[in-house]
Amino acid sequence: MVYESVPRTVRILLLGEPGVGKTSLILSLVTEEFTEHVPPKAEEITIPADVTPEQVPTNIIDICLAEQTLEQVGEEIERAHVICIVFSVDRQETLNKIASYWLPFVRENCPDDYRKPVILVGNKIDLIDYSIIDNIWDIAEEYPEVDRCIECSAKSLINVSEMFYNAQKAVLHPINPIYNIEEQE
Ligand code: GTP
Repeated sequence: MVYESVPRTVRILLLGEPGVGKTSLILSLVTEEFTEHVPPKAEEITIPADVTPEQVPTNIIDICLAEQTLEQVGEEIERAHVICIVFSVDRQETLNKIASYWLPFVRENCPDDYRKPVILVGNKIDLIDYSIIDNIWDIAEEYPEVDRCIECSAKSLINVSEMFYNAQKAVLHPINPIYNIEEQE
């Protein structure tokens, strides 16, 4: 079995369909306010250890498919410790793409015997008045690397810091070591 040792920094990568709010989530976390007009891709951000709940320096990486090739995104997956796949709760197709595209793509870019923890992030809950979390259990069952699901809003600043904190925790305090059990002898 291969154990990933606990890293001294945490590298969090945000993936997901265009327009789901990846850049907005990062900027809302950093500035503690919502800006309508954000750049297509946030610069890589380093949060110093002393302002993170777990006291571990944390890098946050955005992607933008309009500016990057899939090969470059794959390289970012290889470098990440945890992946947040963001969808927009008011656009069902962005949730559908998680199981049909993003989770398989993440697996393709992880070593065979180790699956990186994934957090599923339903953004823009300010736009709906019901929870969509029930639609996600099937995905979590099929993909055990899904550590947890969280609903948030970059606009209303709901659960934004919690989302990044949960991503940190998934790396530093994994509930279960994540293996590709089917491929173990
Ligand atoms: P790409 O750069 O195309 O990959 O998009 P992205 O996922 O980085 O999305 P971005 O942050 O650019 O946000 C897309 C749009 O959604 C913008 O108009 C944002 O203002 C809006 N948006 C982002 N988060 C929220 C949210 O929580 N609530 C609402 N209502 N709008 C949001």
